[in-house]
Amino acid sequence: MAYEAKGKAYAPYSRFPVGAALLASSGRIYQGCNIENASLGLSVCAERVALWKAVSEGEREFIALAVVGGELAACFPCGACRQVLVEFAPDLEIITGQPGQRLLVCSLKELLPETFTFKEK
Ligand code: THU
Repeated sequence: MAYEAKGKAYAPYSRFPVGAALLASSGRIYQGCNIENASLGLSVCAERVALWKAVSEGEREFIALAVVGGELAACFPCGACRQVLVEFAPDLEIITGQPGQRLLVCSLKELLPETFTFKEK
């Protein structure tokens, strides 16, 4: 589904389409793609589009996120997306790769240890 979402990317400036598929604990999967803008700083990553779609539909807990970026063998979420994801899903599993190829799996905690939070640790 992340690959399918990549097909909907709007990336005329970078020409780097990204697709994401976010599995919520409800069982629903939310797709996202990167959406760029001529004012480049307003562009948004596929991962955040998927998360915001899900949260705005009432989801609050997530299990896994798949990401497909361009033709890369692996495309992990950028730093900004990691921080946004950890707000809702500190135990998220991240899967990246290309269809029919070897997938890489890791945890969001591995990608973003010692996260900023208001909660006492
Ligand atoms: N991009 C994503 O959508 N997700 C990532 O994890 C990395 C980068 C997008 C942002 C921009 O539209 C393009 O890829 C190039 O940076």
